[in-house]
Amino acid sequence: MANVTVIGAQWGDEGKGKIIDWLSNRAQMVVRFQGGNNAGHTIVANGKTYKLSLLPSGVIQGKRSIIGNGVVVDPWSLLDEIARLDAAGLKITPEILVLAENAVLVLPLHRELDAMREDAAPQKIGTTKRGIGPAYEDKVGRRALRAIDLMDLAALPAKIERLLAHHNILRRGFGVADADGAALVKSLTEIAPKLAPFIGSSWRELHAAKLAGKRVLFEGAQAVLLDIDHGTYPFVTSSNTVAGQAAAGAGVSPRAIGTVLGIVKSYTTRVGEGPFPTELKGATGEKLGERGKEFGTVTGRKRRCGWFDSVLVRQTVITGGIDGIALTKLDVLDGFPTIRICTAYQLDGKTLDYLPADAGAQARVTPVYEEMEGWSESTQGARSWAQLPANAIKYVRRIEELTGTQVSLLSTSPDRDDTIMVSDPFVDR
Ligand code: GDP
Ligand code: IMO
Ligand code: MG
Repeated sequence: MANVTVIGAQWGDEGKGKIIDWLSNRAQMVVRFQGGNNAGHTIVANGKTYKLSLLPSGVIQGKRSIIGNGVVVDPWSLLDEIARLDAAGLKITPEILVLAENAVLVLPLHRELDAMREDAAPQKIGTTKRGIGPAYEDKVGRRALRAIDLMDLAALPAKIERLLAHHNILRRGFGVADADGAALVKSLTEIAPKLAPFIGSSWRELHAAKLAGKRVLFEGAQAVLLDIDHGTYPFVTSSNTVAGQAAAGAGVSPRAIGTVLGIVKSYTTRVGEGPFPTELKGATGEKLGERGKEFGTVTGRKRRCGWFDSVLVRQTVITGGIDGIALTKLDVLDGFPTIRICTAYQLDGKTLDYLPADAGAQARVTPVYEEMEGWSESTQGARSWAQLPANAIKYVRRIEELTGTQVSLLSTSPDRDDTIMVSDPFVDR
């Protein structure tokens, strides 16, 4: 049975949540495999808007949803999210949600460290201050707490003591008080019984799903240009966001991840600091931001906006392992008399067809554009290819040519139903 893995192909906020919600109707299980509550996914369905950060987007359609071992989980934030959905009429029971026992916990001390570093840094990353980077550091440093640690409360104080031995040295360097170990033990002890019913095994869930012939959808957060290896380092997140991470972050064979769908916005946005060759700082960028409602779901920050950059997407198709594209927000370009696409970069008199690895060079490349005629008709809410104006189709075809990848899904509004399927990613290729 074919599975599908969904990843972001730019700098995040491409509309992964919308596409995963739509696709989850065709799957039996949805699995998050990296990131944490730095992610913000908005889903609009049946007249309601849902905002998810940690919960896999499959929960909206009531699909069995796994928070895989590759995710870093702020347990308080997870409980808040469950409570928010409950208030919106969606019950997240242990029949729906499984939290991997070997997923690392994000603690208040991680959030504090993230914020202290950002506030003190001469060159900020512009993180979401959710403690994601510090939590992954503790994971790699082999001192993190994991979900399973909530199942053995007697052993918790010693684990916390070990963790604080490291953190208090950092905190003293920032001139702040030591972390209160006893208070942390107490608050984790309080929430442990609420989380315990959800704690299980990601790899065993997935193995059982495979034996039962179930279809699985792997849900990426962030995007390839924020990948710790393949992104615009150091202006990246602290996990691998490429498709290969789906295997490691869930506990399955790399062969099980299936077809990889890269979510691509019809233009480009970025939140936080870092290079952005096609960024538009004037009126056109403002217009894209207004039409696209480009404000961050997590931090409310205004997203930086610019033209579509085919150099970047051609590259992330390769580094991310993308087989097909879901193109979103085409409707945002309605009414632009002309539309530009970046097809190459200039750097020191040379033409480049890729983004160089050096951060200094990334900041200095200038885009080479080609211009296309826009369309005055509305594509908003289009549900069939036939409803699209000729110039919009030309634009989509040009993106396919330049990125060397076919558009398999097309999205024309935030609403679940405003999605055009060109080819079914679940069908074996
Ligand atoms: P994610 O992080 O990749 O899941 O994306 P976000 O949810 O953070 O940001 C995408 C935003 O665009 C959300 O507010 C979606 O509701 C919205 N969106 C998704 N697809 C479309 C589309 O095709 N057209 C328009 N206008 N908005 C869309
Ligand atoms: P979704 O899943 C957009 C960005 C932050 C910052 C950098 C590092 O909604 O697409 P972090 O808090 O992860 O250490 O911040 O990464 N960032 C995102 N940008 N969408 C996201 O997630 C993001 N998650 C992190 O703005 O630049
Ligand atoms: Mg988002």
